[in-house]
Amino acid sequence: MQRSPLSLRSLRGDDAAFVSQLSAEAFSEFAPDARRSTLWLAEHHPTLVVERSGDRVGFCVVRSAQRHPAELIAIAVRERERGRGIGRALLAGAERLARAAGSTGLVLHTAEANLAALDLFMKSGFRVTRKLPGYYLRVFDAVEMLKEF
Ligand SMILES: CC(C)(COP(=O)(O)OP(=O)(O)OC[C@H]1O[C@@H](n2cnc3c(N)ncnc32)[C@H](O)[C@@H]1OP(=O)(O)O)[C@@H](O)C(=O)NCCC(=O)NCCS
Repeated sequence: MQRSPLSLRSLRGDDAAFVSQLSAEAFSEFAPDARRSTLWLAEHHPTLVVERSGDRVGFCVVRSAQRHPAELIAIAVRERERGRGIGRALLAGAERLARAAGSTGLVLHTAEANLAALDLFMKSGFRVTRKLPGYYLRVFDAVEMLKEF
């Protein structure tokens, strides 16, 4: 079945409920305060929201830095919309933001057990630069990944 195209845009004031809810769904396991903390980050850093047919289906937050790698602080797709290329489209948008801000790459942290995320990032050109034992809640191991431009 052919799906309607995705559209990426910057965060708006009326996205707050969507970002909070998806953050709680996607990140609470590793960050119990994700609902509030991720919304705060989204409101204070460049954030992209992706829509399909007028429905919000994902978002990502980028902390850009000139002459250094930007940080992909968060990326999440609604559970029922996963596996349809939305994460890949968000990641490409994050990379465009970082390049436009003069960043030298994109760095991120993700749980070592998060196979979907690891696969997405590896396929998009990221490599593991550090292992971070107990990074989340002093329990879950993470990795730092980098893509240089
Ligand atoms: C990680 C996440 C953003 C991926 O989004 P998505 O829209 O499902 O990803 P895409 O459909 O664009 O998939 C792109 C690639 O990711 C990988 N991937 C996605 N889902 C996967 C899964 N369940 N298992 C293995 N690999 C997977 C595949 O390599 C895929 O490429 P392919 O289509 O050629 O097989 C999504 O699973 C998510 O929101 N997870 C919860 C939040 C999270 O973990 N964020 C990342 C850490 S900060």
